[in-house]
Amino acid sequence: MTQPWILMCPPDYYGIEYEINPWMSRSRASDAETTRAQWRALHDVLVSVGAKVSLLEPKQGLPDLVFTANAALIYRQTAVLSRFRHAERQGEEPIDEAWLTAHGFTVRRLPPDIYFEGAGDALFCGDTLFAGYRIRSHARGHQLVGELIGARVIPVELTDDYHYHLDTCFCPIAPDTAIYYPAAFDEYGLQALRAHIPNLIAVEREEARRFACNAVVVGRSVVTNTGCPQLHAALKDRGFEPHETPLDEFVKAGGSAKCLTLRLDGEDAAAWRTAPAAREA
Ligand code: ARG
Repeated sequence: MTQPWILMCPPDYYGIEYEINPWMSRSRASDAETTRAQWRALHDVLVSVGAKVSLLEPKQGLPDLVFTANAALIYRQTAVLSRFRHAERQGEEPIDEAWLTAHGFTVRRLPPDIYFEGAGDALFCGDTLFAGYRIRSHARGHQLVGELIGARVIPVELTDDYHYHLDTCFCPIAPDTAIYYPAAFDEYGLQALRAHIPNLIAVEREEARRFACNAVVVGRSVVTNTGCPQLHAALKDRGFEPHETPLDEFVKAGGSAKCLTLRLDGEDAAAWRTAPAAREA
């Protein structure tokens, strides 16, 4: 098995410069020094649990470029590039595209009228791509992504503006296991999750708002923001190894551990990661 490979972007130009989700308020600025320390600590935990971390060069004027989960959806050597709903983030697209191309990915784009926010809204659990829509990504975009990469897509509507990306309320941690925050979905979405995923770990509202579901999975290690003790206990019961690291400066922008990473070699929960490539044919 190859070493887990993650893309991060240092927070040199990170800040709360606009408001595109309910977490963000220009009156609640981030502190540059704490931001750097928190980002570095996350980076170091990921390295300590076995990941190789590559870096995207930060760019002035693109404060949310740190949230590399939104760059693209990765499927084997294909990267389906994001098309951001908000103009404030659209300048990230060419930067993500250039990096992914330079690192050997075949970059695919969706039609211009379709919004799609990458691994922030589309997550594999087993061989199925779970896809959050309405607030950032279009349901139609997810169907097109499924056709592009030949995967079954289960679209789920996001109903809570504080959980505007699927990765803020849902996190597959193994091909048959996921963390979720039930109140962020409608009845149909809940049924879909329950019908397709045998083991679901529910988190309570308080921990969901601490971004408990925004976890980075590296093997059996699961890394989250601080303040998620119930989730961590549930993970330990199931044989996972939870880690916490403070990410409050990024919560001010509506992001946490998972948002700050893009898994380049396939998430541990994606069945295709370990399946022989021949199965594709
Ligand atoms: N401020 C960013 C936005 O609103 C945060 C992105 C968080 N990323 C994520 N994958 N949930 O777009």
